[in-house]
Amino acid sequence: MKLALVGATGLVGEQMLRVIAERKFQFDELLLVASPRSAGKVVSYQGKEYTVVTPEDAIAQRPDIAIFSAGGGTSLKYAPLFAEAGTTVIDNSSAWRMDPTKKLIVPEVNADALTTEDKIIANPNCSTIQMVVALAPLHKAYKIKRVVVSTYQSVTGSGKAAVDQLFNERKGVEGEMAYPHRIDLNVLPHIDVFQDNGYTKEEMKMIKETNKIMRDDSIRVTATTVRIPTMGGHSESVNIEFEKDFDLAEVRKILEEAPGIIVQDDPENNVYPMPLNAHNRDETFVGRLRRDESQDNTLNMWIVADNLRKGAATNTVQIAEYLVENKLV
Ligand code: A2P
Repeated sequence: MKLALVGATGLVGEQMLRVIAERKFQFDELLLVASPRSAGKVVSYQGKEYTVVTPEDAIAQRPDIAIFSAGGGTSLKYAPLFAEAGTTVIDNSSAWRMDPTKKLIVPEVNADALTTEDKIIANPNCSTIQMVVALAPLHKAYKIKRVVVSTYQSVTGSGKAAVDQLFNERKGVEGEMAYPHRIDLNVLPHIDVFQDNGYTKEEMKMIKETNKIMRDDSIRVTATTVRIPTMGGHSESVNIEFEKDFDLAEVRKILEEAPGIIVQDDPENNVYPMPLNAHNRDETFVGRLRRDESQDNTLNMWIVADNLRKGAATNTVQIAEYLVENKLV
């Protein structure tokens, strides 16, 4: 198994290396790939030294799997070239997610859709991933009609420059602005660019990707995505209207038994999911389970996950694990 990591020097790329090591994902050879700016740089990983190569050099070596976290442009340009060389690409950018010929995968939800024909596989948006992990088992039990979600998203989702902006502001140091406004001591109801319909691209991703992953266009979704000055993970307030009525104790049991979920819901003892606790964890944390008393068959819950882990690196590595375990590469 020859594995290539494209974007190995970026924030998600670094997380990817950590997750691969922790999960003991097995490979015989590892290619660390970045832009020509980084080519030739030596990176040590797991006691070995690797020289960073360009995508062209990596394609020539025909890896079995290439994990991409190098932005949409790099993905659009290079993923097809890797695929042509016989490599299965798992892409973290939004470049291929809504392409009807490409699968959008969250292993707990729809990995069964994967076949050997899938040469470019898309990893969903971070906020969508953690939401569908919790929605899928409940959809099976009660059939979801509508979802209303508001997010509270970590600055790490915007890359290194955004983390620097937060800490520069905190120290009172002038620096580059990753956001159009101050982020420390502030809240920005703005993630990614605004569209003609008044929603941001991030909000539209949550809407469209949820339908695609859940393989059900009848689920109606509306979203407000918000950046807050936190690290560690994204939080989401989710209101779910079901077709069938539910029993709250049964909802809790379904979530507790669902793969990849940890229920943290003991309000009397101040136990609920928080980004500080989700940080560096691979699971999705769910809590504040309660009936929406304003409407029939409707549930409120709070979902938190590490956006660089389950929202990016972990989900991608889980897809790679599934491909290998099921002999799809
Ligand atoms: P480099 O470090 O050489 O610029 P982030 O999102 O944290 O900024 O990371 C982006 C990642 O994508 C980096 O590893 C970056 O490499 C990589 N990258 C950017 N452009 C290219 C390209 N044209 N080919 C390969 N990797 C690229």
